[in-house]
Amino acid sequence: MNIQDLAGRVAIVSGAAQGLGRTIAQRLSDDGLKVLAFDVQPGVSSLDPLANMTTMVADVSRLEDVEAVVKTAAQLGRIGIVVNNAGRWKPTPVDSPWQQALDDWHYIMDTNLKGVMMMSRATVPHLQRNGGGHIINMSTYYVLPARSDGTNPPDTDLYGASKWALNGFTDAWAKYLAGDNIKVNALCMGAVDTPMLRGLFADGELPESLGQVMQTTQIAQQMIELINSGRSGENIGAWVGEPVTIGEQPPLHARITGTGANSPPGGN
Ligand SMILES: NC(=O)c1ccc[n+]([C@@H]2O[C@H](COP(=O)([O-])OP(=O)(O)OC[C@H]3O[C@@H](n4cnc5c(N)ncnc54)[C@H](O)[C@@H]3O)[C@@H](O)[C@H]2O)c1
Repeated sequence: MNIQDLAGRVAIVSGAAQGLGRTIAQRLSDDGLKVLAFDVQPGVSSLDPLANMTTMVADVSRLEDVEAVVKTAAQLGRIGIVVNNAGRWKPTPVDSPWQQALDDWHYIMDTNLKGVMMMSRATVPHLQRNGGGHIINMSTYYVLPARSDGTNPPDTDLYGASKWALNGFTDAWAKYLAGDNIKVNALCMGAVDTPMLRGLFADGELPESLGQVMQTTQIAQQMIELINSGRSGENIGAWVGEPVTIGEQPPLHARITGTGANSPPGGN
């Protein structure tokens, strides 16, 4: 089901008041989908004048809000795409006091992880009924199998853990939902020019050492390419200084899939 086939269907985008979510919501509306864009920030309503756009103030970490978003989306039409974009970042020193650590856990995990779980579970029955669709999780580059020495400082263990945990959702849902024609992938980008990235730097100015960071429109284009590819179960990287495309599909991991000559039988 490529993006043209999805025209007229409904796309839900979380965290759409600014940054990547805003650009992705705009792009999906440009491509003819009905978009339900929501955010905790009331500023999301500035998207309202766009064609095919409905906005809501809602918190993805609250089940009642998630249910209200999905109910509204279903009233707009047949849900076809869910972009789990809402994300939170803050420094979380590993030696912070217990209460601070637990507060930070809720601040980050309730949005970055529980929010993705709830939004996806709430929409899967709709995607199943509607003959399939796409779930796209916004992850980050350092869940990809490479050493990284990038923009995130070392005191962001909870943010990092939240994004690594998305791998479990992406992998498991892609397999479980394959029979329903539901594609599940994650976009795993390096530095993209958004308020979140600028917030990493005291004056909001991006240092030259970052190089030419990516633009949100490039990631939105990559997402469309991914949807059109029909691929599922992948972490798709995007790197500063390299072309932003989905690239070749990597081979299945022989040891994990049990397709290799030396792979053990069964396993989990
Ligand atoms: N910008 C980057 O370089 C970069 C790199 C890798 C991954 N990401 C990921 O991409 C996604 C978007 O990032 P961004 O840079 O645009 O961030 P951003 O902070 O600029 O925008 C995130 C939006 O999410 C909203 N949000 C936060 N918590 C919410 C909640 N509980 N419910 C609803 N909305 C909520 C915020 O209000 C904000 O509008 C995030 O998941 C982030 O982790 C960004």
